[in-house]
Amino acid sequence: MCVACHSADGNSLVPNFPKLAGQGAPYLLKQMKDIKAGERVVPEMIGMLDAFNEQDLQDLAAYFASQKGTTGAANADLVELGEALYRGGNLAKGIPACTSCHMPSGEGNAPAGYPKLSGQHPTYTEAQLKKFRSGERTNDGESRMMRDIAAKLSDAEITAVSSYIFGLHN
Ligand code: HEC
Ligand code: HEC
Repeated sequence: MCVACHSADGNSLVPNFPKLAGQGAPYLLKQMKDIKAGERVVPEMIGMLDAFNEQDLQDLAAYFASQKGTTGAANADLVELGEALYRGGNLAKGIPACTSCHMPSGEGNAPAGYPKLSGQHPTYTEAQLKKFRSGERTNDGESRMMRDIAAKLSDAEITAVSSYIFGLHN
């Protein structure tokens, strides 16, 4: 039933449904548990994970993690701003470089639970950054890592970095 939205290999074709292919298994497992528990609200998935136990969720996470993720191409007009922010942050605004956790080519850090970003649909990435910024998504934990960063991002920065991430290869 995941196929309808995320595709059989996890490379969703719909820009507001996230790609899961090649994503770190610990991150996938955490998100599924958070969605199941309602700690991350995904209306499209309500009730869908209720029948799955811990082992089922681990198996699903392992399956999607083992798939090869597809990538896209950044909008050339947005690369300069997107790359500067992704690689260097914004010192004046106190925004750290995304590379420090999500790695230079966007593959993330699976054991640490830092998600892979490369190749993700810009529409989805933008939506997540805006949800962290507004406090609609709060499952980054007590450290508030992503909420604190997103709070400092402008709409233009969000659009540019999301486009840049789409074109990252690893
Ligand atoms: C009707 C469409 C739909 C179906 C079916 C669906 N999902 Fe989702 N899924 C979504 C949407 C939409 C989001 C994220 C929405 C948001 O936060 O903006 C999501 C998010 C996720 C995430 C988090 C990804 C990330 O990068 O944080 C995981 C993991 C996930 N789904 C797994 C599954 C699994 C496993 C199934 C099958 C049991 C499934 N989904 C079925 C629509 C769907
Ligand atoms: C200090 C580490 C850290 C830094 C720096 C950081 N992130 Fe994150 N990011 C995280 C963690 C941890 C999560 C996962 C939170 C969770 O478990 O839901 C995350 C999640 C995300 C997500 C959601 C991914 C998904 O599939 O839903 C996006 C998008 C994102 N970060 C973008 C960025 C961008 C853009 C920057 C730079 C402006 C950045 N991050 C900087 C740690 C970091």
